[in-house]
Amino acid sequence: MRPPALTVLDDAHAVAHAALATVQRCADESIAARGRFTVALAGGSTPAALYDLLAQHSELPWAKIDLCFGDERAVPPTHAESNAGMVETHLTHQPFIPREHVYRIRGELPAAEAAEDYEQTLRSLFGASRDLPRFDLILLGLGNDGHTASLFPHSPALDERNAWVTSNHVPALVRDRITLTYPVLNAAREIVFLVAGDDKAWALSEVLEGSAQVAQIPARGIAPSEGTVTFFADRRAASRLRPHRSP
Ligand code: 6PG
Repeated sequence: MRPPALTVLDDAHAVAHAALATVQRCADESIAARGRFTVALAGGSTPAALYDLLAQHSELPWAKIDLCFGDERAVPPTHAESNAGMVETHLTHQPFIPREHVYRIRGELPAAEAAEDYEQTLRSLFGASRDLPRFDLILLGLGNDGHTASLFPHSPALDERNAWVTSNHVPALVRDRITLTYPVLNAAREIVFLVAGDDKAWALSEVLEGSAQVAQIPARGIAPSEGTVTFFADRRAASRLRPHRSP
């Protein structure tokens, strides 16, 4: 597995623009090679700026783009914490995005049921073969505790090696979460992390330069066997990296 690439940008706005260019390139390449572009969207707040930019690009071949999710909170899409709700606000409300190509996790279901339901959705989308689904691109964020998607430190989801999608309760959040598992994440062709803000500096340094166990820093478990990992970080998030890496 190739070491992660890091690009340090001036600010969160520049991170969003760098990620936009990657999405556009990846979409072009995937559609040229396989006729479709299948991407898993990140939740949280950082990616909203990217989704706002994407929502300005009606010229993208949206009919050939499958929008999936890397994880979801166990809430309905109308809930303030819903990732699907955030993506709807910033991107999928656009009329040029076919709704039949938006595959949200049904957070309104009981979490374990939502995970099983989403796995069936992905099996239908990718074909029900036993092979792992290979996303063209997976967008991820980084929590200030080193989590990514809904893979939280010392959580049962970290140990799932068979299911494509799993769920678990996250005590620190008093919330059930549904998430793609490491096998699916690490089958991706490309993974892009979007990281911005001072509060991510410790976690980013632990991911890129630390030696903690994956159980402690789950983002360290993102290591696609035949794919690439790129971090787009702003200067504030990169401020604790060694000089040759920090801004
Ligand atoms: C979620 C995300 C989660 C997020 C990080 C960073 O559902 O919250 O999947 O992994 O990417 O917590 O969140 P921010 O971008 O809000 O800092």
